Amino acid sequence: MSASVLNTPSGTILLIGASRGLGLAMAAEFLKKGWNVVGTVRSSGRTKLHDLADEFEGRLEIETVDICEPDQVAALRDRLSGRVFDMLFVNAGCQTTRLKRSRM
Ligand SMILES: NC(=O)c1ccc[n+]([C@@H]2O[C@H](COP(=O)([O-])OP(=O)(O)OC[C@H]3O[C@@H](n4cnc5c(N)ncnc54)[C@H](OP(=O)(O)O)[C@@H]3O)[C@@H](O)[C@H]2O)c1
Repeated sequence: MSASVLNTPSGTILLIGASRGLGLAMAAEFLKKGWNVVGTVRSSGRTKLHDLADEFEGRLEIETVDICEPDQVAALRDRLSGRVFDMLFVNAGCQTTRLKRSRM
């Protein structure tokens, strides 16, 4: 990601997997730079992303999705239909049992 993108004011980023780790750190950084953020969590419980939403009132929306659940992905797509995002970052990774067993 180039520094010029992050310095662009008034953008909106969709961050998949923002409850902790890199996604949470990216959410904080983009908010500090003036961007609006839509960040996702998997569970209904409170996360550090919710603390960020309190800190940056009105600029961080929290959505719920598990990217391993096609129904949830479809529901998120429907909820965000018509929205325009300047950047998408999929921080969540998933691994199937089959992949765990495969040999390199
Ligand atoms: N951290 C590094 O230095 C580093 C370096 C190179 C590559 N990576 C890779 O970058 C990715 C993220 O790293 P990270 O350190 O941020 O990992 P992390 O701390 O484990 O965070 C992963 C994030 O993705 C979410 N997530 C996991 N599975 C999901 C799913 N099925 N659906 C939706 N959200 C899901 C987690 O939500 P929950 O809180 O609900 O689990 C969490 O918000 C990983 O694939 C990692 O291997 C990380």
